[in-house]
Amino acid sequence: MNILNSIDEVRNQIKTWRKEGLSIGLVPTMGFLHEGHESLIRRAAKENDRVIVSIFVNPTQFGANEDLETYPRDMKNDESLCFSAGANLIFNPSPSSMYFDDACTTINVAGLTDGLCGAKRPVHFGGVCVVVSKLFNIVTPDKAYFGEKDAQQLAVIKRMVRDLNFDIEIVGCPIIRETDGLAKSSRNTYLSENGRKAALILNKSLNLSKEALKNGERKSSIFKDIIKEKINSEVLAKIDYIEVVDSLTLKPVTNIKASILVAIAIYIENTRLIDNFTYKA
Ligand code: PAF
Repeated sequence: MNILNSIDEVRNQIKTWRKEGLSIGLVPTMGFLHEGHESLIRRAAKENDRVIVSIFVNPTQFGANEDLETYPRDMKNDESLCFSAGANLIFNPSPSSMYFDDACTTINVAGLTDGLCGAKRPVHFGGVCVVVSKLFNIVTPDKAYFGEKDAQQLAVIKRMVRDLNFDIEIVGCPIIRETDGLAKSSRNTYLSENGRKAALILNKSLNLSKEALKNGERKSSIFKDIIKEKINSEVLAKIDYIEVVDSLTLKPVTNIKASILVAIAIYIENTRLIDNFTYKA
Protein backbone atom coordinates (compact mmCIF):
# COMPACT_ATOMS: atom_id res chain seq x y z
CA MET A 1 0.00 0.00 0.00
CA ASN A 2 1.15 3.44 -0.91
CA ILE A 3 1.50 6.21 1.67
CA LEU A 4 2.05 9.66 0.20
CA ASN A 5 2.86 12.81 2.16
CA SER A 6 3.01 15.41 -0.56
CA ILE A 7 0.13 17.10 -2.33
CA ASP A 8 1.94 16.96 -5.69
CA GLU A 9 2.51 13.20 -5.43
CA VAL A 10 -1.17 12.63 -4.70
CA ARG A 11 -2.18 14.83 -7.63
CA ASN A 12 0.13 12.86 -9.97
CA GLN A 13 -1.37 9.57 -8.82
CA ILE A 14 -4.90 10.94 -9.34
CA LYS A 15 -3.96 12.07 -12.88
CA THR A 16 -2.74 8.55 -13.71
CA TRP A 17 -5.94 6.96 -12.35
CA ARG A 18 -8.12 9.46 -14.20
CA LYS A 19 -6.27 8.71 -17.49
CA GLU A 20 -7.16 5.06 -16.92
CA GLY A 21 -10.82 6.08 -16.50
CA LEU A 22 -10.98 5.00 -12.84
CA SER A 23 -13.44 6.41 -10.30
CA ILE A 24 -12.10 7.66 -6.96
CA GLY A 25 -13.57 7.57 -3.45
CA LEU A 26 -12.17 9.64 -0.57
CA VAL A 27 -12.45 8.81 3.14
CA PRO A 28 -11.22 11.83 5.15
CA THR A 29 -10.03 10.87 8.67
CA MET A 30 -7.87 12.09 11.52
CA GLY A 31 -6.40 8.61 12.01
CA PHE A 32 -6.53 6.30 15.05
CA LEU A 33 -8.90 4.30 12.93
CA HIS A 34 -11.55 1.93 14.27
CA GLU A 35 -14.40 -0.17 12.86
CA GLY A 36 -16.40 2.99 12.16
CA HIS A 37 -13.73 4.21 9.73
CA GLU A 38 -13.30 0.69 8.42
CA SER A 39 -16.96 0.59 7.39
CA LEU A 40 -16.50 3.84 5.43
CA ILE A 41 -13.42 2.46 3.65
CA ARG A 42 -15.17 -0.84 2.82
CA ARG A 43 -18.17 1.04 1.42
CA ALA A 44 -15.87 3.32 -0.61
CA ALA A 45 -14.02 0.26 -1.96
CA LYS A 46 -17.32 -1.27 -3.10
CA GLU A 47 -18.45 1.88 -4.87
CA ASN A 48 -15.21 3.15 -6.46
CA ASP A 49 -12.29 1.79 -8.50
CA ARG A 50 -9.74 3.44 -6.20
CA VAL A 51 -9.95 4.59 -2.57
CA ILE A 52 -7.83 7.25 -0.86
CA VAL A 53 -7.89 7.58 2.93
CA SER A 54 -6.56 10.89 4.23
CA ILE A 55 -5.02 10.77 7.70
CA PHE A 56 -4.50 14.26 9.01
CA VAL A 57 -5.07 15.59 12.54
CA ASN A 58 -6.32 18.96 11.38
CA PRO A 59 -5.11 21.69 13.76
CA THR A 60 -7.60 24.32 12.60
CA GLN A 61 -10.64 22.41 13.85
CA PHE A 62 -9.40 22.26 17.47
CA GLY A 63 -10.18 25.08 19.89
CA ALA A 64 -7.53 26.51 22.23
CA ASN A 65 -8.46 24.23 25.17
CA GLU A 66 -9.14 21.10 23.14
CA ASP A 67 -7.13 17.90 22.66
CA LEU A 68 -4.99 18.64 19.57
CA GLU A 69 -1.73 17.74 21.35
CA THR A 70 -3.06 14.57 22.96
CA TYR A 71 -5.25 13.36 20.08
CA PRO A 72 -4.49 9.62 19.80
CA ARG A 73 -2.33 8.41 16.89
CA ASP A 74 -1.32 4.94 15.69
CA MET A 75 -0.04 4.99 12.12
CA LYS A 76 0.99 1.31 12.06
CA ASN A 77 -2.51 0.13 12.98
CA ASP A 78 -4.11 2.70 10.63
CA GLU A 79 -1.99 1.40 7.78
CA SER A 80 -3.03 -2.23 8.23
CA LEU A 81 -6.70 -1.34 8.77
CA CYS A 82 -6.73 0.75 5.56
CA PHE A 83 -5.05 -2.02 3.63
CA SER A 84 -7.35 -4.81 4.84
CA ALA A 85 -10.46 -2.67 4.24
CA GLY A 86 -9.53 -2.10 0.58
CA ALA A 87 -7.88 1.33 0.43
CA ASN A 88 -5.34 1.94 -2.34
CA LEU A 89 -3.59 4.98 -0.97
CA ILE A 90 -3.10 6.86 2.31
CA PHE A 91 -2.57 10.60 2.09
CA ASN A 92 -0.73 11.65 5.25
CA PRO A 93 0.38 15.28 4.87
CA SER A 94 2.14 17.43 7.47
CA PRO A 95 0.36 20.51 8.85
CA SER A 96 2.97 22.77 7.21
CA SER A 97 2.33 21.24 3.80
CA MET A 98 -1.43 21.68 4.19
CA TYR A 99 -1.46 25.26 5.53
CA PHE A 100 0.39 28.36 4.38
CA ASP A 101 1.60 30.41 7.37
CA ASP A 102 -0.39 33.39 6.13
CA ALA A 103 -3.51 31.45 5.02
CA CYS A 104 -6.50 33.75 5.46
CA THR A 105 -9.42 32.06 3.69
CA THR A 106 -12.32 30.95 5.87
CA ILE A 107 -15.55 29.07 5.21
CA ASN A 108 -18.64 29.70 7.30
CA VAL A 109 -21.69 27.54 6.74
CA ALA A 110 -23.86 30.08 8.52
CA GLY A 111 -26.76 28.91 10.66
CA LEU A 112 -25.99 25.20 10.52
CA THR A 113 -22.92 25.65 12.68
CA ASP A 114 -24.44 27.88 15.38
CA GLY A 115 -26.11 25.21 17.53
CA LEU A 116 -25.34 21.66 18.75
CA CYS A 117 -21.56 21.09 18.83
CA GLY A 118 -20.93 24.46 17.14
CA ALA A 119 -22.27 26.34 20.17
CA LYS A 120 -19.39 25.20 22.40
CA ARG A 121 -16.83 24.75 19.61
CA PRO A 122 -16.90 28.07 17.73
CA VAL A 123 -13.85 27.40 15.51
CA HIS A 124 -14.53 23.72 14.86
CA PHE A 125 -16.72 23.68 11.76
CA GLY A 126 -14.82 26.48 10.04
CA GLY A 127 -11.69 24.32 10.38
CA VAL A 128 -13.51 21.19 9.18
CA CYS A 129 -14.91 22.99 6.12
CA VAL A 130 -11.56 24.43 5.11
CA VAL A 131 -9.65 21.15 5.45
CA VAL A 132 -12.38 19.11 3.74
CA SER A 133 -12.49 21.64 0.85
CA LYS A 134 -8.72 21.41 0.52
CA LEU A 135 -8.88 17.61 0.47
CA PHE A 136 -11.65 17.78 -2.15
CA ASN A 137 -9.52 20.11 -4.30
CA ILE A 138 -6.42 17.92 -3.94
CA VAL A 139 -8.08 14.53 -4.47
CA THR A 140 -11.06 15.57 -6.68
CA PRO A 141 -12.98 12.42 -5.67
CA ASP A 142 -16.24 11.27 -7.25
CA LYS A 143 -17.59 10.37 -3.83
CA ALA A 144 -16.56 11.20 -0.25
CA TYR A 145 -17.58 9.20 2.82
CA PHE A 146 -18.49 10.52 6.29
CA GLY A 147 -19.97 8.87 9.39
CA GLU A 148 -23.47 9.70 10.60
CA LYS A 149 -22.14 9.78 14.17
CA ASP A 150 -20.94 13.31 13.44
CA ALA A 151 -24.40 14.25 12.19
CA GLN A 152 -23.84 18.00 12.31
CA GLN A 153 -20.55 17.66 10.41
CA LEU A 154 -22.31 15.60 7.73
CA ALA A 155 -25.13 18.16 7.37
CA VAL A 156 -22.63 21.04 7.22
CA ILE A 157 -20.46 19.34 4.59
CA LYS A 158 -23.49 18.44 2.45
CA ARG A 159 -24.62 22.07 2.56
CA MET A 160 -21.14 23.39 1.75
CA VAL A 161 -20.85 21.00 -1.21
CA ARG A 162 -24.23 22.16 -2.53
CA ASP A 163 -23.58 25.86 -1.95
CA LEU A 164 -20.06 25.85 -3.43
CA ASN A 165 -20.89 23.50 -6.36
CA PHE A 166 -18.35 20.82 -5.53
CA ASP A 167 -18.99 18.04 -8.07
CA ILE A 168 -18.76 15.34 -5.38
CA GLU A 169 -21.36 12.96 -3.98
CA ILE A 170 -21.35 12.98 -0.18
CA VAL A 171 -22.17 9.56 1.25
CA GLY A 172 -23.30 9.33 4.89
CA CYS A 173 -22.64 5.94 6.54
CA PRO A 174 -24.41 4.46 9.58
CA ILE A 175 -23.02 4.69 13.11
CA ILE A 176 -20.97 1.63 14.08
CA ARG A 177 -21.40 0.56 17.71
CA GLU A 178 -19.60 -1.67 20.18
CA THR A 179 -21.57 -4.82 21.07
CA ASP A 180 -22.86 -3.05 24.21
CA GLY A 181 -24.18 -0.12 22.15
CA LEU A 182 -21.51 2.57 22.64
CA ALA A 183 -20.86 4.40 19.36
CA LYS A 184 -17.28 3.83 18.18
CA SER A 185 -15.09 6.89 18.62
CA SER A 186 -11.36 7.51 18.76
CA ARG A 187 -12.02 9.50 21.96
CA ASN A 188 -13.51 6.45 23.78
CA THR A 189 -9.91 5.51 24.59
CA TYR A 190 -9.71 8.52 26.95
CA LEU A 191 -12.24 6.84 29.30
CA SER A 192 -11.39 4.86 32.45
CA GLU A 193 -13.09 1.51 32.98
CA ASN A 194 -15.84 3.20 35.00
CA GLY A 195 -16.15 6.02 32.51
CA ARG A 196 -16.49 3.52 29.69
CA LYS A 197 -19.40 1.84 31.54
CA ALA A 198 -20.99 5.21 32.28
CA ALA A 199 -20.80 6.19 28.60
CA LEU A 200 -23.44 3.57 27.80
CA ILE A 201 -25.95 6.11 29.09
CA LEU A 202 -25.77 7.85 25.68
CA ASN A 203 -27.24 4.95 23.75
CA LYS A 204 -29.56 3.90 26.57
CA SER A 205 -31.15 7.34 26.78
CA LEU A 206 -31.56 7.53 22.99
CA ASN A 207 -33.20 4.09 22.98
CA LEU A 208 -35.63 5.26 25.63
CA SER A 209 -36.63 8.23 23.48
CA LYS A 210 -37.04 5.91 20.45
CA GLU A 211 -39.53 3.93 22.55
CA ALA A 212 -41.46 7.12 23.21
CA LEU A 213 -41.56 7.80 19.44
CA LYS A 214 -42.89 4.31 18.82
CA ASN A 215 -45.60 4.98 21.40
CA GLY A 216 -46.69 8.09 19.50
CA GLU A 217 -44.94 10.87 21.44
CA ARG A 218 -44.33 13.87 19.14
CA LYS A 219 -43.40 16.71 21.49
CA SER A 220 -39.70 17.58 21.48
CA SER A 221 -39.80 18.90 25.04
CA ILE A 222 -41.04 15.52 26.33
CA PHE A 223 -38.37 13.78 24.36
CA LYS A 224 -35.66 15.95 25.80
CA ASP A 225 -37.01 15.36 29.33
CA ILE A 226 -36.93 11.59 28.85
CA ILE A 227 -33.29 11.73 27.72
CA LYS A 228 -32.31 14.26 30.39
CA GLU A 229 -33.76 12.18 33.23
CA LYS A 230 -31.98 9.06 32.02
CA ILE A 231 -28.62 10.79 31.61
CA ASN A 232 -28.93 12.44 35.00
CA SER A 233 -29.31 8.99 36.55
CA GLU A 234 -25.64 8.41 35.67
CA VAL A 235 -23.46 10.24 38.21
CA LEU A 236 -20.40 10.43 35.96
CA ALA A 237 -22.32 12.05 33.09
CA LYS A 238 -22.71 15.80 32.63
CA ILE A 239 -25.05 17.01 29.89
CA ASP A 240 -23.68 19.41 27.27
CA TYR A 241 -26.78 19.44 25.06
CA ILE A 242 -29.89 17.45 24.17
CA GLU A 243 -31.49 18.73 20.96
CA VAL A 244 -34.28 17.78 18.59
CA VAL A 245 -33.66 19.55 15.28
CA ASP A 246 -34.73 19.43 11.64
CA SER A 247 -32.22 17.09 9.99
CA LEU A 248 -31.53 19.42 7.05
CA THR A 249 -31.57 22.90 8.61
CA LEU A 250 -30.50 21.78 12.12
CA LYS A 251 -33.02 24.27 13.54
CA PRO A 252 -34.83 23.18 16.72
CA VAL A 253 -38.33 21.76 16.23
CA THR A 254 -41.11 21.75 18.83
CA ASN A 255 -43.30 19.09 17.23
CA ILE A 256 -41.98 16.12 15.29
CA LYS A 257 -43.49 16.18 11.81
CA ALA A 258 -40.77 15.79 9.19
CA SER A 259 -37.27 14.31 9.30
CA ILE A 260 -35.61 15.08 12.63
CA LEU A 261 -32.26 14.53 14.26
CA VAL A 262 -32.12 13.76 17.97
CA ALA A 263 -28.58 14.67 19.00
CA ILE A 264 -26.90 14.60 22.40
CA ALA A 265 -23.50 15.48 23.80
CA ILE A 266 -22.30 14.68 27.31
CA TYR A 267 -19.10 14.91 29.26
CA ILE A 268 -17.71 11.88 31.08
CA GLU A 269 -14.46 12.46 32.98
CA ASN A 270 -13.85 15.59 30.84
CA THR A 271 -14.25 13.61 27.60
CA ARG A 272 -16.98 14.96 25.36
CA LEU A 273 -19.01 12.19 23.71
CA ILE A 274 -21.77 12.53 21.12
CA ASP A 275 -24.51 10.27 19.78
CA ASN A 276 -27.69 10.68 17.75
CA PHE A 277 -30.40 9.14 15.63
CA THR A 278 -32.48 10.39 12.74
CA TYR A 279 -36.21 9.79 12.49
CA LYS A 280 -38.39 10.28 9.45
CA ALA A 281 -42.06 10.91 10.32
O1 PAF B 1 -14.53 13.57 11.17
C1 PAF B 1 -13.29 13.75 11.16
O2 PAF B 1 -12.50 12.88 11.48
C2 PAF B 1 -12.74 15.12 10.77
O3 PAF B 1 -13.57 16.14 11.21
C3 PAF B 1 -12.49 15.25 9.25
C4 PAF B 1 -13.76 15.16 8.45
C5 PAF B 1 -11.51 14.17 8.80
C6 PAF B 1 -11.85 16.61 8.95
O4 PAF B 1 -10.65 16.78 9.61
